[in-house]
Amino acid sequence: MGVLLSSQKHRFHYFDVTVDTGDRKGSGTDSHIYIALHDVDENRSIDIELNHTLQDNFQRGSTDHFRISSGVKSLADLKFIEIWRDTTGLFDDWCCEIITVVDLRTKKKYIFPVHRWILPHKIFHLQQYDMVLPQDDEKAAQRRDELEIRKRLYQLAYVGDLQIPRIKDFPSDEAFSEDYKWDIRSIALKVGIAAKIREFTTERFQSLDDVEDLYYPPILPKPWAVNNWRCDKEFGYNRMNGCNPSHIRLCSQIPNSFAVSEDDLKPILEGLTIEETIDRKRLFIINFEFLRDLPCQEGAKMCAPKALFFVNNEKYLIPVAIQLFPDPADDNPVFYPSDPEYTWLLAKMYFCNADASVHQAASHFGMTHVVMESAAIATHHCLSPSHPIFRLLAPHFLNIIAINNKGLDLLMGKGSISDTLMVTGSVGVSEIINRTWKEWRLDQQGSFLKDLEDRGVDDPDVLPNYHYRDDALLIHNAIREYARTIIECFYDSPAKIEGDHELQEWGRFLSGTSSKMGEITVKMKGVPNDGNFRSAEDVSEVVTGFIFICSVTHAAVNFGIYDQYAFPPSYPGWLHGDPPTSKEPVSEQDVFSQLPTKQDIVHWMTVAKVLSERGTKPLGDFELQYIYHPVGLEALNKFRKDLERAGDIIDERNRTRETPYTYLHPKQVPNSISI
Ligand SMILES: [Fe+2]
Repeated sequence: MGVLLSSQKHRFHYFDVTVDTGDRKGSGTDSHIYIALHDVDENRSIDIELNHTLQDNFQRGSTDHFRISSGVKSLADLKFIEIWRDTTGLFDDWCCEIITVVDLRTKKKYIFPVHRWILPHKIFHLQQYDMVLPQDDEKAAQRRDELEIRKRLYQLAYVGDLQIPRIKDFPSDEAFSEDYKWDIRSIALKVGIAAKIREFTTERFQSLDDVEDLYYPPILPKPWAVNNWRCDKEFGYNRMNGCNPSHIRLCSQIPNSFAVSEDDLKPILEGLTIEETIDRKRLFIINFEFLRDLPCQEGAKMCAPKALFFVNNEKYLIPVAIQLFPDPADDNPVFYPSDPEYTWLLAKMYFCNADASVHQAASHFGMTHVVMESAAIATHHCLSPSHPIFRLLAPHFLNIIAINNKGLDLLMGKGSISDTLMVTGSVGVSEIINRTWKEWRLDQQGSFLKDLEDRGVDDPDVLPNYHYRDDALLIHNAIREYARTIIECFYDSPAKIEGDHELQEWGRFLSGTSSKMGEITVKMKGVPNDGNFRSAEDVSEVVTGFIFICSVTHAAVNFGIYDQYAFPPSYPGWLHGDPPTSKEPVSEQDVFSQLPTKQDIVHWMTVAKVLSERGTKPLGDFELQYIYHPVGLEALNKFRKDLERAGDIIDERNRTRETPYTYLHPKQVPNSISI
């Protein structure tokens, strides 16, 4: 920066300008960049070129500093800036992240977050913090034009058999940064090399002793399930704290189709009758009857099981009965822990096969990746990047369209691992997603507190050791307060909500209740008042739900994948045989012969390992900070402190837990779905 002569200092009003250029492919520019400053008294600086002639400015990921003369004697407090560029140079596209202006007389700092591609020869006006409701935006025409372009860019379409709409055409803006820390190919390559060097003397498992051969630490470590999988206590624990933790519910009545016998159950219920266990809230159920007649791999047997669980005197949740198919029949008996050892084990394995199918298709792909892609598109389609709700949600939608575009087809499309490694095949995966989506509501399954309440599992005294619930609750409270603080600041009266046409359009597009001719909308059920937002509480509910699903829900169902799937006897994606149809004893070899081949299992482990990698920063520590508004910054600081406190509490809990639960430690929960 040059030294100012005292005569210059007095003649003109000087400012320091700092410009951050984006860190994605093609962000840097060789074009000429200009700026003009406007103050609250409607004075304007001259047109100023931001240029250090001896430096290569505005390179990707760089920060450039300029000392500029406004060319006028004095400017009052700044109100907005104009920026624009020409088309000089080979690389003229420019993605600008943020511009900071410091008044050298008053030392006052003005922050203008941009987060946009700046188009050539088009003057772009930016207000401080760029966080304003549409009805308060003085540059309404600019905002409308920008949103029109985004509406064309972000459109929904039905892809394949899925009934949840996805992106119609992938926008180049959504591509991963080249140096995105998580690189699918390099991890897959590393793990794949380990997989290739494995040599097996037999194709299939003969016994549990063979299992040891599978692992290759540290690339393919031995999952903890190896040592614990047979026991009923672990089976119960995994239903609460494995990678599919949201299906267990309090049993207030045994379904008519569940042919459990009081006589068979009584010895397992520590002397209580079924009625007594229900009265004392000690009986729980998981019911996967909705898998009935699911299309799956040719010749494969897919169960639609239900299982009863009991909280015993030692406070452990243990399975007490499993029925593998929906309707009672002689060849569809209820299995109990008192049955022959390997018959009971096989019944548990078939239950887990159904659990894994629901997990991968619905809990993971469908209700986090796909539904949140749809929500992200709705947000890009309806809200200006200057909208407070857009800025609040942006870090949590980062990469989701890209990861789905890049990875989801490899996982659930035709010829994907769903076809090679899952009993459901890709057809079954789509069908499970569609059946789940048909019943799914944002204000029920998509609302953490309501979901716990509906399932009757919100009380730790009733269902102890439900670590998923206890840890998720801490983060949920932090997210809710963070979102609510910012939302209430902008919507301090119902009139502000009614008058926000972008917000109402977002509600309509999400809910899809009054779609225009030919328009594809999300059609998400359970959006407050069918998308007609009336209060700040309505908006907070949706925003909290989306942030929670993108961070906590996804982390809970994603990062335990290796621990569960890498040991298929505990969580098999496919069983090559027949489910037990009687209580006849079966041998250990009968059980193990149903497992996939060892090569298939190593393939599964490779995929599971890749999916368990974290590539982005933890919650609250954003890759890109979108909010600089003072109220937003204060809320963000509080959010970070709340998360830190939650982390301390979880550390403390894990010191005394029999098995530490780490998937929802805030340091392990990414901001968005990026794997
Ligand atoms: Fe995922």
